[in-house]
Amino acid sequence: MAMPAEMYRGTHLLPSILSADFARLGEEIGLVMDAGVKIIHVDIMDGRFVPNITIGPVVVEKIAPLVHARGGFLSVHLMVEQPERFLEDFVRAGADALSIHVEACIHLHRTLSAIKELGAGAGVAINPGTDLCWLGEALHMVDFVLVMTVNPGFGGQKFIPETLDKVRRLRQSLPSGVGIEVDGGINRDNIRQVASAGGNWLVAGSAVFHAADVAGEARYLQTQLAD
Ligand code: DX5
Ligand code: ZN
Repeated sequence: MAMPAEMYRGTHLLPSILSADFARLGEEIGLVMDAGVKIIHVDIMDGRFVPNITIGPVVVEKIAPLVHARGGFLSVHLMVEQPERFLEDFVRAGADALSIHVEACIHLHRTLSAIKELGAGAGVAINPGTDLCWLGEALHMVDFVLVMTVNPGFGGQKFIPETLDKVRRLRQSLPSGVGIEVDGGINRDNIRQVASAGGNWLVAGSAVFHAADVAGEARYLQTQLAD
């Protein structure tokens, strides 16, 4: 399903299900969506691009109807080598937006075009140690950029403070209407700072799903984003 353009401009909390209880996945997604969440972040890892393995299209296929039935969307973060091999599978499974890593994809232009042709939102993700100049020629074709604020692979890591200035610099150079998804180490202590640097899709995994009151924390983090 194509995401309306205003979704990429709006400010949203994206709970990352990497830290959810996978035995109660549908229930936990329901909790955060009842708390006002519109976009769920899904982490796909292949054990090669990153040192961890997570889930594939079969899980996306099961959760997509739950999310769509509540008027929500799925942002699928592909931390895999040669992501072009899997685009169609994830879009067919119900992904609304796909992000691919600049470090994992040699043919960035072709792959971003393929995502658009499949009818999904196209995003390019960038690791903490990669210079923004790697994105230069692709910025005019993306709906959003995903800035990693931890090294990808695991939930629950500490926010790398130097990445905040990268978000700021990216916001200054981005065409208007292009979103910035910020991913890694976001919690109640830094979410406002990340949003004021220019991030408008704020991913939070452990901060939401490891909280004693999952719905309450999702609600609280969203109040921090309201101006
Ligand atoms: C890390 C993933 C993140 C992760 C964030 O590689 O891309 O989406 O779930 O988790 P927290 O918010 O706990 O850092
Ligand atoms: Zn992620």
